[in-house]
Amino acid sequence: MANGEIISGFIAPHPPHLVYGENPPQNEPKSTGGWEQLRWAYERARASIEELKPDVLLVHSPHWITSVGHHFIGVDHLQGRSVDPIFPNLFRFDYSINFDVELSEACCEEGRKAGLVTKMMRNPRFRPDYGTITTLHMIRPQWDIPVVSISANNTPYYLSMEEGLGEMDALGKATREAILKSGKRAVLLASNTLSHWHFHEEPVPPEDMSKEHPKNKIGYDWDMRMIELMRQGRMDEVFQLLPQFIEEAFAEVKSGAFTWMHAAMQYPNLPAQLHGYGTVIGTGNAVVEWNLVKAGLARMAGKAA
Ligand SMILES: [Fe+2]
Repeated sequence: MANGEIISGFIAPHPPHLVYGENPPQNEPKSTGGWEQLRWAYERARASIEELKPDVLLVHSPHWITSVGHHFIGVDHLQGRSVDPIFPNLFRFDYSINFDVELSEACCEEGRKAGLVTKMMRNPRFRPDYGTITTLHMIRPQWDIPVVSISANNTPYYLSMEEGLGEMDALGKATREAILKSGKRAVLLASNTLSHWHFHEEPVPPEDMSKEHPKNKIGYDWDMRMIELMRQGRMDEVFQLLPQFIEEAFAEVKSGAFTWMHAAMQYPNLPAQLHGYGTVIGTGNAVVEWNLVKAGLARMAGKAA
């Protein structure tokens, strides 16, 4: 079988407000809009997905938490209703998702071989978390591409930052091995917000954009500094600064998806395409793409080391 490829990787944040603002038929609460800058950013990302035509989308979300090991959804199809525990007023979503169980199992096995604790999730009544669903809906609202869903072990919160992110690096490399052996063309989705300082009160209505702005200057300044480095392709510096960014901006990339994705792509020092930036309840969110096809790196990223 031909070598598989990682064709692109995205930071694809998951505030449920974006789904609420868009009013898809699957979401029960209805809005008058809001958070357009980020929703338009996702429109640009969707155009890229449409052009790339991936066989599979792999998503790592901080809100499917498995304290023991890294888990992978191992059932063909899940259908049901997902309610955001923090914003049940905004997100009550009827999902119907097809999973690429073959690639999930391969990721699980490669992770195990790399020394990680891994496990397949086989419960046919399992409810995926709102982070996974929001990221997938915003990047591909047609829901017509099979998915590999990966849990957050949250080791960076329990171990030292270095150990925890080291584990996510190993998970990324294992994911890459599984993809290249699969023969499939894969897109990676790191479901992460950047700065994560947020407001504690919601305006009425929630989509009143006159109340939406960065929670504080330190978070915003950090986001701009990191995005500018990403845009310039200075990813070595991004990763050097990552622990300080996480600490000072309370950044959600701590949960590991960002490190997982870049490890899988072999940390390319490639200028990122910023599809857009915006705040949600004060947190900093960017839709950012590293398109390995456009950069001529997809085959290289897909070759065995
Ligand atoms: Fe989150």
